[in-house]
Amino acid sequence: MCGIVGYLGSKGAYEILIQGLKRLEYRGYDSAGVALLDCDGKLNVHKSQGKVSNLEKVAQAGNTNGSVGIAHTRWATHGEPNDINAHPHVSQSGMIALVHNGTIENYAVLKKVLMDHGYEFKSETDTEVLVQLIEYIKLTSSCSLLDAVRAALLQVEGAYAIAVIEQNDPDTMIVARKSSPLVIGVGDGETFIASDATPIIDYTDEVIYLNDNEIGIIRRNEPVQVISLESKEPSAINIQKLKLSVAQLEKGGYDTFMLKEIFEQPSTLRDCLRGRIVDNCSRVVLSGVELNKERFMKAERITLVACGTSWHAALIGKRLIQDFCQIPVEVEYASEFRYGNPVLNDKDIVISISQSGETADTLAAIQLARQKGAFVYGVCNVVGASIPRNTDSGTYIHVGPEIGVASTKAFTGQVTVLTLLALSIAQLRGTIRPEKLHEILSALERLPETITEALKVDPEVKKLSRIFAYAHNFLYLGRGYNYPTALEGALKLKEISYIHAEGYPAAEMKHGPIALIDHEMPSVIIAPSDSLYDKIISNVQQVKSRGGAVVAIVSHGNQAMNDIADFCIEIPEAPECLTPIVASIPLQLLAYYIAVNKGKNVDQPRNLAKSVTVE
Ligand code: M6R
Repeated sequence: MCGIVGYLGSKGAYEILIQGLKRLEYRGYDSAGVALLDCDGKLNVHKSQGKVSNLEKVAQAGNTNGSVGIAHTRWATHGEPNDINAHPHVSQSGMIALVHNGTIENYAVLKKVLMDHGYEFKSETDTEVLVQLIEYIKLTSSCSLLDAVRAALLQVEGAYAIAVIEQNDPDTMIVARKSSPLVIGVGDGETFIASDATPIIDYTDEVIYLNDNEIGIIRRNEPVQVISLESKEPSAINIQKLKLSVAQLEKGGYDTFMLKEIFEQPSTLRDCLRGRIVDNCSRVVLSGVELNKERFMKAERITLVACGTSWHAALIGKRLIQDFCQIPVEVEYASEFRYGNPVLNDKDIVISISQSGETADTLAAIQLARQKGAFVYGVCNVVGASIPRNTDSGTYIHVGPEIGVASTKAFTGQVTVLTLLALSIAQLRGTIRPEKLHEILSALERLPETITEALKVDPEVKKLSRIFAYAHNFLYLGRGYNYPTALEGALKLKEISYIHAEGYPAAEMKHGPIALIDHEMPSVIIAPSDSLYDKIISNVQQVKSRGGAVVAIVSHGNQAMNDIADFCIEIPEAPECLTPIVASIPLQLLAYYIAVNKGKNVDQPRNLAKSVTVE
């Protein structure tokens, strides 16, 4: 949560910072702020509750000069979203400004000590404690900003990515990270810092990913230096090339990022599959598995850990691995796993699934799993993020930046990679027949075309969404591979339209939720022509006979369901294990149009942020 951005160079910093904040707004939009050092050596700070556009109005009325500055967009944790709690926070003397993404867990203890030394606090944030502590150390020890930041961070417990500037020294910025992401962009005579590479890509494609417990020293007209927090020893500088393009960060003619991301799934899935299906659809190649054959051969159990939508993908992954590899699989919420005292050994594989690669609970879960001797495999979208850097091996889903807060193309990319992963392990362990492997790989290769076909329901779903404008509750039902699809459909609807929706295994409905069904509670039932189709038909009948409206997602050409359900949406045929990917398309569109009809901001739903870097 929260996004930070900084600039030190020869250009005006303000515009660069504002554009950077707009790119990072997906990380939080409760408030925004900027601190700039002008050429007269004055620190100017502007802050505003709400979005970056509010900040622009406030800042433009003041001084926005300066070629060095830091900025922040906030997802509130400590203290309500208002102007005072907005970052940057400034030290008591007004000399030091700091932006922070993360949580200082021992802030209360530190605050008390500082208050005993006469420090007064304006905000309710944990961050203000850190900037005051830096100033306190600097003044009492007469040390440099770098030494003060380092000494302060050695006292801090929790997670942080920070950027600090000082009024007396417009040529220096100090940055540091622990468990929150921070990227340094290396330009020609200018340096950028940000929570991810998206604010940097317009200016340079050369970046340094700061590691945990490292401090970056950015000085005007000098190469970036990185040192270890603990030892102060210089770290090796590893400059990497970004593969992002600016076009990937724009709406490309769509009204919203979410709609763009739904419609680009044929091409994102093509990118995801590229080079991974070979020899005329008879073999799958995942280098993460090839390079670790022994670990996959000896695995006795696989545990999938994730949060939110990625957890739904994990549930599908469980089915895939069990069906094809015959290895016992467990799926855990990362937040439960990390505190659940998991019993693991070197015959365990833990697979983490995360779009952002920064989700705090998932990161902590895999760190714990590695400590306990498990082999940790990551399925991630953002290249170079913290999770892939903390795994033993893994596979990127390569679906490009996902900016809409509601995950769409990342979900279909995750399920696609989990399918490839299951097939790859099965191929290695000899648990899949060559004909079956060929059948699924051929269908996977056709998947981009299948999804193009599935997207043709758009006008129909748009029309349907108007009919359901009245509903306050929805039930989503599915069985087998499509029980997780039902969970995902319900999550999409609730997070962007604020309509209560519950996903349920269709057969479980009669054990409780059936009591909720009446003519005001529609059910969306995922019923492709698969091995459980006959079973789900009776679940549809159970809803209908209690007066509930049914929207059925059925395979192309299914006439029979038309006589039972109120509305049928047809999806193209696919092997059973791929139906969650195909069926999720109309569910994404349904949630999208219902939310749009209700006038909601689908890209930035209330209270949410794209990457959840706090517990
Ligand atoms: O980046 P991650 O995949 O680790 O994020 C996990 C969840 O926060 C995320 O999937 C969330 O549930 C989405 N907003 C759902 O659309």
